[in-house]
Amino acid sequence: MTRSGLTRQNVRHAASLLWQGRNPAARVYDSIGTEFFLALDEGWLNLGLWEGDGTDPSEAPRAVRRLVSTLAEPLPRGGVVLDVGNGLAAQDPLIAEVAQPKRLVALNITESQLRAGRGRLAEAHALAVNGDATRIPLRDQSVDGVISVEAAFHFPSRARFFSEAFRVLRPGGVLSMSDVPVTRLPRRPGELLAGLTQLRAWGLSTAAVATAGQIVDAVTTAGFREVSERLVGERVIAPALAFVRRRLDIGRDEAPMAMRLASRAMLSQVELLWRRGLLDYLLLTAIKPKSAG
Ligand SMILES: C[S@@+](CC[C@H](N)C(=O)[O-])C[C@H]1O[C@@H](n2cnc3c(N)ncnc32)[C@H](O)[C@@H]1O
Repeated sequence: MTRSGLTRQNVRHAASLLWQGRNPAARVYDSIGTEFFLALDEGWLNLGLWEGDGTDPSEAPRAVRRLVSTLAEPLPRGGVVLDVGNGLAAQDPLIAEVAQPKRLVALNITESQLRAGRGRLAEAHALAVNGDATRIPLRDQSVDGVISVEAAFHFPSRARFFSEAFRVLRPGGVLSMSDVPVTRLPRRPGELLAGLTQLRAWGLSTAAVATAGQIVDAVTTAGFREVSERLVGERVIAPALAFVRRRLDIGRDEAPMAMRLASRAMLSQVELLWRRGLLDYLLLTAIKPKSAG
């Protein structure tokens, strides 16, 4: 811990704005740690699927769970389920409850999150695997369902993730995921600055920038069929921004001053991107066909 109250991981994260380095996603989540003061609920890192407009903070714990149960619902029951990018594992007991898998495997590139989530992974009877979504260390056709909650924009290549998900799924297997697509590219300097800073701050490459149509095309190119997609930014991004804005305005000493200032600057940028219509939130389900062709 430095004198400013920041951890060494926070400082490394700040430095990565200038120099990205290897494994940028793990750097970001090492920095965020286990007690992220802006999380909607303890251990949960998703933005939630809201019914309200985000001004009632008591809805936040329900919203994060609603998002995960909505994504887990299409998974086949009683099979092997792979959760890709499982965060702090808060979602895994819920995925296990909904899909009743005979085996749940949680794959995450951030080892510290798998360690921190050990108790929740045990509760979900899940096997933790430290690895990359674009090189899934599982055998061909060994999985019945792949779920990925709000993580695919981090993967070095969505196309490679989809082809890996397709490879490990058995015929008839299901992919269910959420993602953050762009709706258009920045046109003004403020939009460009906000977009580039957000990419850097979240350890993302420009490969993360894709429209919902491009994401659907990549899923189809990997071989998936029966792709169904839903854009729900109004129920995810808008209320999550309202929640975080309120938390930052009300919360005084929950985080070091430097972190609160950085969070305010980041929030203003995401608010701008959302207000100007550059972002959305995608729910997507697709099936690996039972037979080729
Ligand atoms: C925004 S967090 C979402 C976490 C969790 N799904 C949730 O919603 O609470 C993104 C997660 O993806 C993981 N991740 C990022 N890149 C990855 C990769 N290439 N392979 C596997 N996991 C990755 C991160 O470590 C992190 O756990």
